[in-house]
Amino acid sequence: MDQRSKAPGPAPDAAPQRAELLGLAAKAMNAAWSSFDRARPRESVLDEDLLGRLAGALPEDGGDPADAIEDAARVLDASISPARPLNLAYVGSTGLATATVGDALAATYDVNLAAHSAAAAILEAQTSRWTAEFIGHPRACGGFTSGGQISNLSAILAARERAMPGSRVSGVSAQAGALYCSGEAHQSIIRAAEVAGLGSESVRRLPIDSERRLVPEALERALEQDLAAGVNPVAVIATAGTTLTGAVDPIADLVAICERRSVWLHVDGAYGLPAAATPSAAPLFAGIDRVDSATLDAHKWLGVPKSCSVLLVQDEEVLQAAFGHREKYLLHREDAPNPVDHTLEYSRPMRSLKLWLVFRVHGAAALRVWIQRGIDNARLFTSLIDADPAFQMLHRPMLSTVCFRHTPPGVADLDAHNLRLARAIQADGRVYLAPATIDDRACLRGCFVNFRTTPEDVRLAVAVARELGELLA
Ligand SMILES: Cc1ncc(COP(=O)(O)O)c(C=O)c1O
Repeated sequence: MDQRSKAPGPAPDAAPQRAELLGLAAKAMNAAWSSFDRARPRESVLDEDLLGRLAGALPEDGGDPADAIEDAARVLDASISPARPLNLAYVGSTGLATATVGDALAATYDVNLAAHSAAAAILEAQTSRWTAEFIGHPRACGGFTSGGQISNLSAILAARERAMPGSRVSGVSAQAGALYCSGEAHQSIIRAAEVAGLGSESVRRLPIDSERRLVPEALERALEQDLAAGVNPVAVIATAGTTLTGAVDPIADLVAICERRSVWLHVDGAYGLPAAATPSAAPLFAGIDRVDSATLDAHKWLGVPKSCSVLLVQDEEVLQAAFGHREKYLLHREDAPNPVDHTLEYSRPMRSLKLWLVFRVHGAAALRVWIQRGIDNARLFTSLIDADPAFQMLHRPMLSTVCFRHTPPGVADLDAHNLRLARAIQADGRVYLAPATIDDRACLRGCFVNFRTTPEDVRLAVAVARELGELLA
């Protein structure tokens, strides 16, 4: 008999099996979180048996859930996870088990935030208000997206519709528009310009100063030139925490320019904006209360897993103007508001729940302390590097990102040496750091956004870089 036409067995998700499955999952999650408590001596690797199963064919019949969950847990254990305290590569936080519980609960109910969702929308709005209050933005509306890319794109589409009314219908081919940002803005801005039909050549990548911040006078000049040439300024994008070094553009100066010329100011604070909530870093973000829109990725520095980005907007109507539409299969604003009328995405999970739980369970004060810990870790790291003549910092961290390189005497090609060192550190497994390039010089880059990273971990990271660097020199 054809296997596929077999009579179905018992209900696929009957209560006893489900209880067993959830128990197994809770055990696996608990074991994972315990393993994140301390940095481990090396990354684990998969054995031959499991590698063989990962090359296996589509299973026709189901298997033991305990075996499947064990395999899944072992695969995850051998994957690069930013939850580990010494995973310093890129910008990934995930320090809070509370947030993963939020994800699991949200996935269980699978509420769709595209359409009317009853209570979920109320919680989502509260979370976006809390986020705005946390960093000091006067949000009127906003939304949760899959990441900084989509939040930045959404803001730019809204700015495009304000600068070029009707362009979402008629296109932008008849009008020249431009975006303005520093040369160190994230690639998502370029991509957004491409997707918005403005084209990547419309992005004016402006000079930075010695602290790697956008130079306001350069913005003034670029705006003047474009206006004289009949180009329509669509938006200025300030970065609040560049990906490479964590530099925060001078927001207040840019606000003054943008307000004078009625140009939309968006802050890409995907990485850095949570630091605006700390007394020590808040002055860097002065002016955030006057920007048109801002992006903050909770999955970067608020301890929640991917994906969870928040877009905050000052004017209630701009998102509706950019994304509002009518479909026969949805109720619209006058009947029951559907978030899809002010978001780019359609089906959306309830990303807000995990952040809401973090605010509810831990509170804003604890988050401030934990974010400050990342800043302090970067300072400690810097002082250790400064104290060792065989190392060089390539910039002073404004937030929690460090770029440094090993410069032992007698090594002629420091770029090649540091790239080799990055590979050696990754192969060693005690610390996970990524190479980067700053002003054409290869370096090592680390970012402290994991709430579980301790000062001892920071000391170990420097010691490992020193030990392996000396071996390679
Ligand atoms: C400053 C900045 N903006 C935007 C992004 C894109 O965010 P996502 O990867 O969440 O889409 C990043 C990602 O690293 C970033 O650092």
